[in-house]
Amino acid sequence: MNLFHRPRRNRKSPAIRAMVRETVLTPSDFIYPLFLHEDRGDAEIASMPGCRRWSLDGLVQEAGKAHALGIPAVILFPVIAEGLKTPEAEECANPEGLVPRAVQALKAAHPSLVVITDVALDPYNSDGQDGLVRRGEDGSLEVLNDQTVEVLCRQALCHAEAGADMVGPSDMMDGRVAAIRTALDGASFEGVSILGYTAKYASAYYGPFRGALDSAPKDGDKKTYQMEPANVREAVRELLLDEEEGADMVMVKPAGPYLDVIAALRDETTLPVAAYQVSGEYLMIKSACAAGWLEEKAVVMESLTGIKRAGADVILSYFAKQVAQRLG
Ligand code: PBG
Repeated sequence: MNLFHRPRRNRKSPAIRAMVRETVLTPSDFIYPLFLHEDRGDAEIASMPGCRRWSLDGLVQEAGKAHALGIPAVILFPVIAEGLKTPEAEECANPEGLVPRAVQALKAAHPSLVVITDVALDPYNSDGQDGLVRRGEDGSLEVLNDQTVEVLCRQALCHAEAGADMVGPSDMMDGRVAAIRTALDGASFEGVSILGYTAKYASAYYGPFRGALDSAPKDGDKKTYQMEPANVREAVRELLLDEEEGADMVMVKPAGPYLDVIAALRDETTLPVAAYQVSGEYLMIKSACAAGWLEEKAVVMESLTGIKRAGADVILSYFAKQVAQRLG
């Protein structure tokens, strides 16, 4: 053939392919999500093979290993004992609670590790919703916005007092970023950052996570506050609000099925964009690989590269440590 253009020339050797590679993952791209519980031992999570509920000691060790591999940050998800869950979710702001103790232990052991906490009521709330619930006489369920935001502010302050570097409101209540910013600043925590879960969708991919924390809603769903999966303009609207309200970083969640949303936010904002490869995305890869149908290493790298290529500056992934190990 008399071809003038032969794109294959740029793929002809590993060296040339490396030279023209547009997207490169590094350990510093990642935030490592970790589950913790009050028990002494570490426990495998049935719904998320390869992930554990860590004891405080186990958590400090695991975070230390990840940090030594170059991962800058962890985000914490607590399993709260059933007996501590109440309709008002008071435990979420208990200074002696599991999360504040974990933050203190992590910062004491690894001062340079960025410790991020999740701000939402679902692990603490006997209804399993991210906010406070009011039930109508007809059995209908309403998740209250403004009352919830007050509790979220107390929760964020409690995490800041324990030494958290960053709080991540994942609740999707309106106005919570501004309210949390004001509460933090009012208590002289100007240095504590806010990672807004800006475009968090009402996703079926969260199932394994709710199993990991026993935090599934007791009834109803989360569709009156988490976003409709069909929408992308609405994500931009949430972005503009979170920017205005003072978020330091914005997030898209889940990641893989929402690459267009990541790209849209990347186009619209100068803030760093984070994306969360959630439990269902993790489990799909894990189970297909356990069955021998996909090759884990390659699929993990490809899924994460795709998320970064779409525009994510930061990726939350249960694969973070494994990937950092491979890149190191
Ligand atoms: C709850 C929260 C959820 C996740 C992170 N924070 C679940 C939910 O909204 O129901 C999901 C993470 C995952 O699936 O990996 N505030």
